[in-house]
Amino acid sequence: MTKFIAIVGTNSDQSTNRKLLQFMQQHFADKADIELAEIKGWPIFNKPEDKHVPAEALALADKIDQADGVIISTPEYDHSVPASLMNALEWLSYGIHPFVDKPVMITGTSYGTLGSSRAQAHLRIILDSPELRARIMPSSEFLLGHSLQAFDEDGDLTDTEKVDKLDGLFADFETFVDLTKQLNNASGINKQEATDFSWDNLG
Ligand SMILES: Cc1cc2nc3c(=O)[nH]c(=O)nc-3n(C[C@H](O)[C@H](O)[C@H](O)COP(=O)(O)O)c2cc1C
Repeated sequence: MTKFIAIVGTNSDQSTNRKLLQFMQQHFADKADIELAEIKGWPIFNKPEDKHVPAEALALADKIDQADGVIISTPEYDHSVPASLMNALEWLSYGIHPFVDKPVMITGTSYGTLGSSRAQAHLRIILDSPELRARIMPSSEFLLGHSLQAFDEDGDLTDTEKVDKLDGLFADFETFVDLTKQLNNASGINKQEATDFSWDNLG
């Protein structure tokens, strides 16, 4: 069965993004094994000279390596991704490169109307950086606005149009994952370039 790692893009205990991923985990249980990953409590990235990466980041990198793809659900703080998500991605691009050529589906929720659209746009740019270089599913957004009202007491999404949209995007993501497996001609070079890349050597 297809295996996805679903990163909860926040360190908050009360998160509608976590709820969305938990819903997806149940809703798509017959299609994929979705394992939720938390980033709470990771040390703050401080660019250590010895390049020591914390165990939490190494463990998640290993899971991403093994997975067919990654789903990231991001909240929106001050029109961007939470610092905790950025922090996790900084560790996950510091001497380790689990995201290179990895298919990624972005989702997000917010309390307001726009459903984390600005944070998702930022996340695309972040994931395209030289040491992350993920393969982000193109032309797709799952924006869940008014997220505090979006779930019933069982944790199900109540808006059927939103569920239909999520069904469509998830099916597209499965196709995208299959297509990505064929886009492997430069994967060795891509990995090597990410490994060799150094900000210190830029003139
Ligand atoms: C400091 C702070 C900044 C926020 N900035 C935004 C924002 O720019 N856009 C937005 O839609 N919600 C904003 N919110 C509200 C929610 O935190 C946000 O909608 C978030 O996506 C909810 O995700 P969560 O339920 O997973 O925590 C902000 C909240 C806080 C505490």
